[in-house]
Amino acid sequence: MVRIGILASGNGSNAQRLVEHFTGHPHAEVVLIGSDRPQAHVVQRAWDMGVPLYLFNGALLRTGAVLRELQGQQVDLLVLAGFLRLIPAELVKAFPERIINLHPALLPKFGGRGMFGQHVHQAVLAAGEKESGITIHYVDERYDEGEHIAQFRCPVLPGDTATTLAERIHDLEHAHFPQVVEEIVRRSSAVVG
Ligand code: GAR
Repeated sequence: MVRIGILASGNGSNAQRLVEHFTGHPHAEVVLIGSDRPQAHVVQRAWDMGVPLYLFNGALLRTGAVLRELQGQQVDLLVLAGFLRLIPAELVKAFPERIINLHPALLPKFGGRGMFGQHVHQAVLAAGEKESGITIHYVDERYDEGEHIAQFRCPVLPGDTATTLAERIHDLEHAHFPQVVEEIVRRSSAVVG
């Protein structure tokens, strides 16, 4: 079994899709949802779905407590689903090519510190882009710079606002993210057993 941990800071719709996708799965299970924001809706979602919840703050992330918790829970694959903090180098090193991030734009454009959620969509609209999309990539010590795994595209339509574009991007994420994680699980279950 591949043991999946999810980190999320916000609404948690992608975290929920992942949990649903892997419920009853023969090769993988979501064993933990971690969040750095106790008031985020993802916390309620984890509670409602009965997934073990781990709350932490920035200091616990930086000082290695989160790493120890993930290791203690024998997490094999860490999935960032709307997680907004930088992953410390020590954690990256402990999970080589085993941390995956979902970004709501076509990297390398519109990435980096401060580029999350609505900020990304506002920047895409301000730049007059004709298309946007999502990038699923491995995580390294820098924001949004790890190796790309997959990208999916959608149009930016005349009259779009950050809200309407965000909805289109979310649809794309919900349609593809669990499938891409599934593919990675398939590859790594050969290693994990
Ligand atoms: C998603 O659109 C995800 O791509 C984005 O946060 C949203 C979380 O939505 N991630 C980032 O911006 C990371 N830089 P959700 O909480 O409903 O899953």
